[in-house]
Amino acid sequence: MLRTASDTSSDSQSTLGPKRVLVVDADLTYLGTIASELQTDGYDVVQATSGEQAIELLAVQPVDCVLLDLMMPGLDGLETCRRVKHAPNLRDTPLILMTVREGREVMLEAFGAGADDFISKGLGSDVVAARVKAQIRRKRFGDEHRAVRERLLRSETEATEARAARQLAEARAALAEQLARSNFELAGANRELAAANRELEAFSYSVSHDLRAPLRSIRSFTQMLEEDVGSTLDEESRGHLTRVIAATARMSDLIDALLELSRISRVALTRTPTDLGPIASAVVEELRGRDRTRTVEVTIAPRLDASVDPRLARALFDNLIGNAWKFTAQVAAPTIEIGVVETGGERAFFIRDNGAGFDMALAKNLFTPFHRLHGAEFAGTGVGLANVRRIVERHGGRVWAQSKLGAGATFYFTLPGH
Ligand SMILES: Nc1ncnc2c1ncn2[C@@H]1O[C@H](COP(=O)(O)OP(=O)(O)O)[C@@H](O)[C@H]1O
Ligand SMILES: [Mg+2]
Repeated sequence: MLRTASDTSSDSQSTLGPKRVLVVDADLTYLGTIASELQTDGYDVVQATSGEQAIELLAVQPVDCVLLDLMMPGLDGLETCRRVKHAPNLRDTPLILMTVREGREVMLEAFGAGADDFISKGLGSDVVAARVKAQIRRKRFGDEHRAVRERLLRSETEATEARAARQLAEARAALAEQLARSNFELAGANRELAAANRELEAFSYSVSHDLRAPLRSIRSFTQMLEEDVGSTLDEESRGHLTRVIAATARMSDLIDALLELSRISRVALTRTPTDLGPIASAVVEELRGRDRTRTVEVTIAPRLDASVDPRLARALFDNLIGNAWKFTAQVAAPTIEIGVVETGGERAFFIRDNGAGFDMALAKNLFTPFHRLHGAEFAGTGVGLANVRRIVERHGGRVWAQSKLGAGATFYFTLPGH
């Protein structure tokens, strides 16, 4: 049997609205008495006649207080009380056990089962109703107290969060300001550096340029001397003249290389989407044309797409393929491979040969002008790789090499912005 004294659908646990009390007793008469007592006081009363029914009811309908008779057939009051107090969502609901039995023992049992209060039915229904009211009041104070504490805690958390956010914003602003300052200083330093570099380049350009004329004089007058009086000289003196002429030729090559380096640094950069393959094969064809005695197997991968200045790309390959060509001169079956690999999310183009190679331990200054790892057995000025680095860096890329003495070399470079 389940009857509600009122069909209000408001939330029984709200602090407004009427409070709802579940009264559980097998004795229908007593149930009626208590119910009307509570209703008179303005409570909603839900009635149940057994522990089982009370539990079923509580599962679907929360109440503000449970009044439970100890002696019931089936699930008795103590066991019902235990079950209610074990349910996490019901644990806080005040529960009063009532009985006709008196005595310490039964009272201790009731509190042991989790009851919030214990009352003797003999005291009269008005006293029982007063106990119910007292429990509901206690519960309300507890709830209000908890709500206030939660509100406080929340506002404290909010204040802490706001403080943290403010500190973060301040730190960020300070950092941004510092960054802006450093950037400004850096830009200044960069401008100074660029100006110094320009001056240095202009200087080396004019020095190289101005050295050409006197060098040409030395060369041509020495050649005239050789032609005019060469036959009258002894062998040793003629050898000296030949060496002077060879040295002027070498110096002329060095000056040309320096001028090329400064040209590469100064020429305007015009990037266009370019397939590097045809540029590489043009370089190879030129090398073959110049040296028909050599058979070099060259493979060029398809679609070597990059965004480059095509003229600088040509100079780049002139140097790198030129080196691969030169340093494979002494191997039986020379091969050169030109391709692209993916390294660390970056496309790196490479030129690989199976030539003389070099010792990586000595390669620290490989890309510095005039730095050579081989002697006169391979002709050269040592400026080629400096040119390569300039070209790659002007495109925002990096260049590096991998080699082993006697086991060929691979030169890699990146051209970001493709
Ligand atoms: N493919 C290569 N194999 C072996 N050594 C190389 C290779 N490319 C460059 N090198 C080494 O790096 C040096 C510098 O190269 P580079 O600047 O082009 O000068 P150069 O070709 O005039 O000697 C070379 O003298 C050589 O020792
Ligand atoms: Mg070279």
